[in-house]
Amino acid sequence: MSDPTRPAAPRIIAIANQKGGVGKTTTAINLAAALAEVGRRVLLVDLDPQGNASTGLGIEPAARGLTTYDLLIEDADIEQVIRSTSVEGLFLCPATTDLSSADIELVSNEKRSFLLHDALNQPVLDGFNLDYVLIDCPPSLSLLTVNAMIAAQSVLVPLQAEFFALEGLSQLMLSIRTVRQSANKDLRIEGVVLTMYDVRNNLSQQVESDARANLGQLVFQTVIPRNVRLSEAPSYSIPVLSYDPLSKGSTAYRALAQELLSRHAKV
Ligand SMILES: Nc1ncnc2c1ncn2[C@@H]1O[C@H](COP(=O)(O)OP(=O)(O)OP(=O)(O)O)[C@@H](O)[C@H]1O
Ligand SMILES: [Mg+2]
Repeated sequence: MSDPTRPAAPRIIAIANQKGGVGKTTTAINLAAALAEVGRRVLLVDLDPQGNASTGLGIEPAARGLTTYDLLIEDADIEQVIRSTSVEGLFLCPATTDLSSADIELVSNEKRSFLLHDALNQPVLDGFNLDYVLIDCPPSLSLLTVNAMIAAQSVLVPLQAEFFALEGLSQLMLSIRTVRQSANKDLRIEGVVLTMYDVRNNLSQQVESDARANLGQLVFQTVIPRNVRLSEAPSYSIPVLSYDPLSKGSTAYRALAQELLSRHAKV
């Protein structure tokens, strides 16, 4: 029987913040795993030359074969780039450092901002029957991130609960607005999720109340706590949901997945 909460075409969400180390990759891997755990089919596109999402899901650089670079620059078939992972229902387009030259190699390519959009519209992707595509962006507002914002329906912003967290947001919002005015008028902000939250730290609470006061409903109710299990899991090449299913980190990402699904069910 068809599930009315299941979208027909995948929802494509870019996970972006130009600030480094705020929890983009941790959110991409574990939100993807949490969605897969409740039966959704999810593709994680590693769009960061650092390849952290690929390593975190156990695909070593030497074993990456065709990568996101081939998808964007060599026009590879997405079917040949997608890999299965240790998590059922979770697929990956891996990345390597090759991707770092994309900006320069594409300077004279007129379609350079639409390459990921076009790749994700290859009809062969229908066969994967995906519910979600999550894109793990690099820490910049470069051409790669622009590709993600043009390919996506929405942007999910991890915000580290620390001083100056909100300062960088205006630049990100400006980029989103620019993309809306040019190539993707329907681009939405999926939401802002507070990461590395420390309940014992007044600063975390301050950042949270500032974020909620300024951004209102855009801020997810779910907050991701600082949890050492989340930082350990990648070295075992698995999401935290597999590494320590009952940890605070696992519980938080499951709650985030539920919040996302219930928002989408209402639309
Ligand atoms: N909630 C958390 N609790 C503890 N450690 C965390 C948490 N979230 C992320 N980390 C750790 O913080 C570091 C940065 O996280 P992550 O790689 O997800 O950020 P990023 O935004 O993807 O970084 P980059 O901008 O370099 O791509 C990593 O070592 C990660 O394991
Ligand atoms: Mg990252």
